Amino acid sequence: MAHQVRAVVAREKGAPVSLETIIVPDPGPGEALVKIQACGVCHTDLHYREGGINDDFPFFLGHEAAGVVESVGEGVTDVAPGDFVILNWRAVCGQCRACRRGRPWYCFNTHNAKQKMTLLDGTELSPALGIGAFAEKTLVHAGQCTKVDPAASPAVAGLLGCGVMAGIGAAINTGNVGRGDSVAVIGCGGVGDAAIAGSRLAGAAKIIAVDIDDRKLETAKKMGATHTVNSRENDPVEAIQALTGGNGADVVIDAVGRPETYKQAFYARDLAGTVVLVGVPTPDMKLELPLIDVFGRGGSLKSSWYGDCLPSRDFPMLIDLYLQGRLDLGAFVTETIALDDVEKAFERMHHGDVLRSVVVL
Ligand SMILES: NC(=O)c1ccc[n+]([C@@H]2O[C@H](COP(=O)([O-])OP(=O)(O)OC[C@H]3O[C@@H](n4cnc5c(N)ncnc54)[C@H](O)[C@@H]3O)[C@@H](O)[C@H]2O)c1
Ligand SMILES: [Zn+2]
Ligand SMILES: [Zn+2]
Repeated sequence: MAHQVRAVVAREKGAPVSLETIIVPDPGPGEALVKIQACGVCHTDLHYREGGINDDFPFFLGHEAAGVVESVGEGVTDVAPGDFVILNWRAVCGQCRACRRGRPWYCFNTHNAKQKMTLLDGTELSPALGIGAFAEKTLVHAGQCTKVDPAASPAVAGLLGCGVMAGIGAAINTGNVGRGDSVAVIGCGGVGDAAIAGSRLAGAAKIIAVDIDDRKLETAKKMGATHTVNSRENDPVEAIQALTGGNGADVVIDAVGRPETYKQAFYARDLAGTVVLVGVPTPDMKLELPLIDVFGRGGSLKSSWYGDCLPSRDFPMLIDLYLQGRLDLGAFVTETIALDDVEKAFERMHHGDVLRSVVVL
């Protein structure tokens, strides 16, 4: 039996999203049908709508979600109906060259549902990040469901499914931030603020928040920033150096993903320090750097895909820290909205008014 549900769809490049009735098949082998309780609005959803990811329209948007498993297909043993889960876009295969080398967070062959969800006329949908969750129900691979403590509120838990995990992981997994480190984070939206919260959790001594919007810098302080720099008014490289004894930060995280912010990150780190790129550039962007500086400054230049997270390891751990009051995930939820409010939430995101709008169903 297939299910008809309402879902947020981006039909064509740059056009406003629409609420459509879609068809979600019953789970086949290895798949799970999940009743969505909450789904955050991530900048990546907007990138999809603008055609910045690829041209496989129509997209079924939404991917930062939590909900309850409604039914599972043949052979599914890890999750069962009634389980409270966070959806992830890293259901590792266990067999690719990364998995075989014991680095499953780089898995090159992650699982998604095999069956397609469609519009009523049969047009196949491309689910954002292989999920699609601005809807009452969705179909995923069972490995995309990570069980966590049901004491966590869905609106908060769902955020770990993408942006907040990407930010925390950019700091603690990719950047390897540790006790006593100095960290600078460029771009303090949901992802950058999560990198700040992750740096605090890891014991960083100095956390410098950089943004072009003073409102974002205020929130960043609540997340754990010890210093702030408005990079519209001040040169961020000089400001970060001045705050770190003239040296630069041990780890600089670019949570914007533009050539100019990457260059700032590159020059604002200490010698032999680490740059982590977690913001997603568009395909047309180019970077030019003197190669002698790349050599002479040493250290490492890393990209962070999904915070190099392993959902089964990281989601339950972070939810537990949240429930213990040691990680304020609730602070990321600026507002809860209805399913038909996603387009307006994009506008508010674009104007920098929110950290996260979360659709609650
Ligand atoms: N790598 C991953 O796995 C992953 C996962 C989720 C999101 N992302 C990406 O992370 C980025 C941030 O996402 P978000 O949801 O936090 O977005 P957001 O729109 O909420 O935040 C972006 C922030 O950057 C600031 N900003 C913009 N231009 C700036 C500049 N030139 N200098 C300094 N600050 C600037 C804005 O004021 C805003 O506070 C996006 O590119 C998103 O696609 C990456
Ligand atoms: Zn793999
Ligand atoms: Zn996302």
